[in-house]
Amino acid sequence: MNNVTGTAFIVAEFRAEENEESAPLYTDNVVKIWLNEETKEIAAEIAQNSPAAKEMVKLRTKYFDDVLSNQVLGGCKQVVILGSGLDTRAARINGERVTYFEIDDRATLQLKEETLTANKVSANVRYLGGDYVKDGLISLLKQSEFDFDIPTYFLWEGNTTLLAKKDVIFALKQIRDNVNSFRLSFDYMSEKVILRTTGYQDINDYIDKYESMYAPWITGFDQIATLADELNLKLIENFSTADLHVQYRPRRSLESNLFKFYFVCTLENMSENLPS
Ligand SMILES: C[S@@+](CC[C@H](N)C(=O)[O-])C[C@H]1O[C@@H](n2cnc3c(N)ncnc32)[C@H](O)[C@@H]1O
Repeated sequence: MNNVTGTAFIVAEFRAEENEESAPLYTDNVVKIWLNEETKEIAAEIAQNSPAAKEMVKLRTKYFDDVLSNQVLGGCKQVVILGSGLDTRAARINGERVTYFEIDDRATLQLKEETLTANKVSANVRYLGGDYVKDGLISLLKQSEFDFDIPTYFLWEGNTTLLAKKDVIFALKQIRDNVNSFRLSFDYMSEKVILRTTGYQDINDYIDKYESMYAPWITGFDQIATLADELNLKLIENFSTADLHVQYRPRRSLESNLFKFYFVCTLENMSENLPS
């Protein structure tokens, strides 16, 4: 499982654990269908070496669940999940006539669809197997009934850190230049974490251990507002997971300084970017 695709199973294990809390931040009754002794053991090993990873996944899950729910409540009918892995939102957050488009590699999506069907979990999803960098996310969307003219919510969770920076920026530009009206949320690391310049040795040790077991962290951003400006996108929200922790877990202390360097954000298209 020492590869990017395998990361989806680890994230799923971390996410599932929140169900055991007495006052969970969210409830995910679907995720367990993909979990087994093997995924449990690997996730436990990673969590032992990198305890903060689990909490960071839970905090971001709560944030993205809330943004997505608000989008659906506000009437958004299309949701695109890039690198969806074992994301269960299509089954959990499904307002009337909302269509999900999930992009991930073919094998992951096939396993996903088969397991959902076998467990009689219904979800209104179009599975678009492919690589949104190499195949191009717009080409993949064009192969489906995706409507480029209706308001769409894009969720890009657990991906940007694993991609080359130019590919992150290219994906953002592709969405901006082709989709009429959208909001987009993603998580990202500060570039200081990638460059080992946070000033915290515990963070450097953390990444070294994490990367040796999991997948390398390649890309980070320090000035997300500047990036949004450069791309002519509007930054709606930007929170560190330390901020989220204070908001969601007011009685718990922060497990790691890394939370100060790991962020979630939501961007929006500006009307002048509309494709002609
Ligand atoms: C860390 S997992 C996160 C999964 C899910 N978004 C979540 O947070 O639970 C990263 C996922 O993104 C997928 N992925 C990464 N880069 C991709 C690309 N260029 N095209 C398609 N899928 C990609 C991987 O296959 C993997 O399933």
